[in-house]
Amino acid sequence: MDQMSKPTHMPTLVSTWSFGLRGHRVAWDGLDAGGTSLDAVEASCCAIEADEEIDSVGYGGLPDAQGRVTLDGCIMSSPSRCGSVCCLSTHLHPVRIARAIMEKTSHVMLAGASADAYADQQGEPRAELLSPAARAAYDQWKVDGTIPDQVGDSGRPFDQEGSGRIFLAADEAAWKHHDTVGTLCLDRHGSLAGACSTSGAPFKLPGRVGDSPIIGHGLYVDPDVAAVSVTGSGELVMGCCGSFLAVEAMRRGASPIDALVEVLRRIERQFDLLPSHQVCLVALDAQGASCSATLRPGFRMSVSREGRHEALDPDAVLLPDD
Ligand code: GLY
Repeated sequence: MDQMSKPTHMPTLVSTWSFGLRGHRVAWDGLDAGGTSLDAVEASCCAIEADEEIDSVGYGGLPDAQGRVTLDGCIMSSPSRCGSVCCLSTHLHPVRIARAIMEKTSHVMLAGASADAYADQQGEPRAELLSPAARAAYDQWKVDGTIPDQVGDSGRPFDQEGSGRIFLAADEAAWKHHDTVGTLCLDRHGSLAGACSTSGAPFKLPGRVGDSPIIGHGLYVDPDVAAVSVTGSGELVMGCCGSFLAVEAMRRGASPIDALVEVLRRIERQFDLLPSHQVCLVALDAQGASCSATLRPGFRMSVSREGRHEALDPDAVLLPDD
């Protein structure tokens, strides 16, 4: 069936973390007016990438062990329509560059200096990626392995609704977690799309790339089934192709929440989990149903539907705190 002849659907945006709502509010009017899911996820992620208060994505994201911020991201509407970019160091909007790769090249993924060069060719402006707050956090981490203003001692990211901050490490050993905005959308035409953007692991080994820009790991979209995005410890997600596994489970008949929990159970079985490890998944199926599941407490998802923008607790927590 031609896309435009599908019945009208209720436009829906779903994101990881409560800060996802900051992007939803920017993207909402266009989506509600009949805009496409691809435009909505791009607009939402670009707003978050530009938000200095969000310490895990774009400007404001924490740098690598040499003090350099590098950004990863991807966008997808189907297996034959996806784009990705990793290790950008001079451009702010990985999702927009990933979309250009998807729409204007025969490739899926560009990396590093060549990806920045491609962004230059596309007329993307160069940008300073290291914010003053991220530089201060790096300077303190270099001295004593801690950051100013930290909260909690588990070392895993924790949603502080309204602040944009999720990194709360108590000591250097805890800086093993990392996070992402993953945004999923169903538009009025019934088309699903997703995008993912991150600055990756704080103080990571230079060159490290996690799950976020890799199709099937941080993001997967099957237009007939569902879109899933994953946030948290990328190395765990990469061990099980987390987003692909969840969508595939749904294709075989699992409910969205059972599919997300299956991914978490597999991670729990296959890894020696540390207290700092966290993995959180959000799903939006082709009928517009959404849910989220998380390995541990501390995660919230953002949902926008019928003009309401809400941060919601996850539908399932595999390992609740005692
Ligand atoms: N989930 C983001 C990362 O591991 O880079």
